[in-house]
Amino acid sequence: MSNEKFLTRRHILWLSLATLTGINACTKDRLWETTTKNKMLNSLARNSKIVGKLSLKERAAAKGLIYGAACESYELSENKEFATYFAQECAILVPENELKWAALRPTPDKFDFDKSDQLLKYAQTHKMLFRGHTFVWHGSFPKWFQEKVNSKNAEKFLTEHIATVASHYAGRIHSWDVVNEAIETKHGRTDGLRNTPWLKFLGSQYIELAFRVAAEADPKALLVYNDYNLEYDYSDSNAKKLAVLKLLERLKSKGTPVHALGIQSHLIASQPHFNTKKLRIFLSDVASLGLKILITELDVRDYKLPADITQRDRMVAAACEEYLSVVLDEKAVIAVLSWGLSDRYTWLKNFAPRPDKLPVRPLPLDSNFQRKLTWNAIARAFDNAPKR
Ligand code: G3I
Repeated sequence: MSNEKFLTRRHILWLSLATLTGINACTKDRLWETTTKNKMLNSLARNSKIVGKLSLKERAAAKGLIYGAACESYELSENKEFATYFAQECAILVPENELKWAALRPTPDKFDFDKSDQLLKYAQTHKMLFRGHTFVWHGSFPKWFQEKVNSKNAEKFLTEHIATVASHYAGRIHSWDVVNEAIETKHGRTDGLRNTPWLKFLGSQYIELAFRVAAEADPKALLVYNDYNLEYDYSDSNAKKLAVLKLLERLKSKGTPVHALGIQSHLIASQPHFNTKKLRIFLSDVASLGLKILITELDVRDYKLPADITQRDRMVAAACEEYLSVVLDEKAVIAVLSWGLSDRYTWLKNFAPRPDKLPVRPLPLDSNFQRKLTWNAIARAFDNAPKR
């Protein structure tokens, strides 16, 4: 069967599953409480034993995978202990914010690589890979952007930014999130694209343009399309999976140099809407386009869980291991990065605080850099993953 026919058949399946999911959603939500309670109880009983003393990066490497995390430069400079733990666990580092427009571009005609270069230096010192995040995103424009950029000069700003930054790091970057979060099906476009300034100024071709400029500036880097809300079985998440798949197909059909999909993987513990079958089909469809897959921003929201830390950590760990055991079965998945390594430094502190104001616990290390059950969960997922 030709690739087109195969994918069309898949799309019909996706669309019908998405419709059915929509109809079922209300039924499912009525069962939400029961399912969630069952999941919580199951996760409490779950075995989280690990074998041996290897670090996360060593367990990943044993299966041909890469494990690492995001961090900010101040976290490593202000806390030498954390810098040691980070090097012990991580084989790749992604700057959480230092390679975004807001950090790199103090003025329209200036680039400031100081903080991102500090992180590259740390990564090189500890023989870590370095990944870039992100050239094109609606989420981190510098203050001057809205006033200075328009439909006449947007292409120049976009191409100059990517060419300058990609060239600055050429040959020293494992992968770039070239375009981040370009899909938002709720915006109502048939192509599912998010209404961002780039789309407004340049039309939908801005995505292909970004990848082509990045490939020319750094032919060695793996070029990634990165997005979120692809993990669960919600009608909007399933619609987004389909829209992302069709975007990737369109890009590939034009010969665009896109090499991988980044699935952010911001998980929610005790989430009943986790459908292993639909996730496996999605991962396999992405891989069938000849693309690699990276888990780029893994963390687990615990805001709806009980206050008790033992219970909470078990549920967070269970969600993490359940998800990773599915995604790591797909051999196109080459890397797992968590969005932070320690609970001391997580964006969720401000973005998704707990109603009881207790500190959130979404990451492998606690706020004193001690390994948690979530560390065990990731370790077990690597230990049980098929070798690449
Ligand atoms: O650096 C400035 C500082 O000078 C200023 O005093 C301070 C107070 O306004 O803000 C600082 O910038 C903050 C920046 O993080 C660095 O800490 C921004 O306000 C804040 O909005 C920014 O938040 C980041 C957010 O992306 C937006 O860029 C989060 O830390 C970061 O975790 C989050 O990461 C995103 C990924 O890039 C894409 N996927 C989703 C993920 C979570 O939202």
